[in-house]
Amino acid sequence: MERKVRLAVLGAGLIGKRHIQHVLAEPQAELLAVIDPMPLGQQIAQASGVAWFPSFAAMIALDRPDGIIVATPNQLHVENGIEAVAAGVPVLTEKPIADDVADGERLIRAAEAAGVPILTGHHRRHNPMIQKAKEIIDSGELGRVLVANAMFWLFKPDDYFDIDWRRQAGAGPVFLNLIHDVDNLRYLFGDIVAVQAQESNAVRRNVVEETAVILMEFSSGLLATASVSDSVVAPWSWEMTACENPAYPQTEEACYMIGGTHGSLTIPALDVWKNGIKRSWWEPFEKRRVTVQDEDPLVLQIRQFCKVIRGEEAPLVSGREGLNTLNVIMAIKQSAESGERVVLG
Ligand SMILES: NC(=O)c1ccc[n+]([C@@H]2O[C@H](COP(=O)([O-])OP(=O)(O)OC[C@H]3O[C@@H](n4cnc5c(N)ncnc54)[C@H](O)[C@@H]3O)[C@@H](O)[C@H]2O)c1
Repeated sequence: MERKVRLAVLGAGLIGKRHIQHVLAEPQAELLAVIDPMPLGQQIAQASGVAWFPSFAAMIALDRPDGIIVATPNQLHVENGIEAVAAGVPVLTEKPIADDVADGERLIRAAEAAGVPILTGHHRRHNPMIQKAKEIIDSGELGRVLVANAMFWLFKPDDYFDIDWRRQAGAGPVFLNLIHDVDNLRYLFGDIVAVQAQESNAVRRNVVEETAVILMEFSSGLLATASVSDSVVAPWSWEMTACENPAYPQTEEACYMIGGTHGSLTIPALDVWKNGIKRSWWEPFEKRRVTVQDEDPLVLQIRQFCKVIRGEEAPLVSGREGLNTLNVIMAIKQSAESGERVVLG
């Protein structure tokens, strides 16, 4: 039996608590400590039966984990990551890797220079269903994929906006939610080379956007649209369809549709639609549903982190990949503000 990988969780909030539970339940890993300056963090450490520290510096002075999961607010990810890298500790950081592309670049360069791995917590790539979708697309079964459509349509209740920062710029569904969908699309289809976007705040009238429509151009020539709204009552989003988080009601609708010259695919159901003998709009369809074994991607992400720490695998979502996804989101915001198409460098 290999030695367990000793992990610490930095930030014991909403997502940090889920990471703590998953590390505690993971046979390959051991929870070394919870780091969070708030009294609640200390209580969670106590309830988990592990050491508590108010800061990374306080922990590293006494003990050194094999890896750290950073689940602090966005603005701290770079600072926390650089501290861990300086101590030679591999990092799995929550998304977004940074709240600014230049700062994210600083973190990645520091990690590269030190030879310390960084993983970005775009956990959806670890979902077996997305893995299977990629396999179907890469197999060529759909022919050349030309078009995709992604939807994030749901209703955030009015009291969600009682908290001030959620009404301010940077807290909208493009930055908070669409970043996951953009990362999925980048995983499935490769690099995005240009975007054009329009946003609106027609109903709630907060500073932050509530609706956005985005056109994305991929280096392969594929064109995709994404539409986002957190102010519509609708079942078409990853949240309501992918069965990842039991807190959301689940529907059997699609959130992504992918079209190729020889067939198309829905996500998350993995329905493959094709014509029989001849491709034609007159021909009947053959529909095949591909099944996969459900597994919690947050658990699989921690397992992969353990393998990366042991030097057995490269990160599925590296820090650089997380930064590239962030770069697309920043370009979308820039395009919505300027009204111009933005070409990515
Ligand atoms: N992958 C996902 O699906 C997903 C879901 C939710 C949140 N997130 C991301 O996770 C991060 C945290 O989000 P959240 O909703 O859990 O936030 P949260 O506010 O619930 O929790 C943040 C925690 O960090 C702690 N903290 C603050 N400063 C700290 C410091 N210097 N050192 C250690 N701990 C500190 C706070 O006390 C708090 O407990 C965000 O970056 C968010 O984007 C990702």
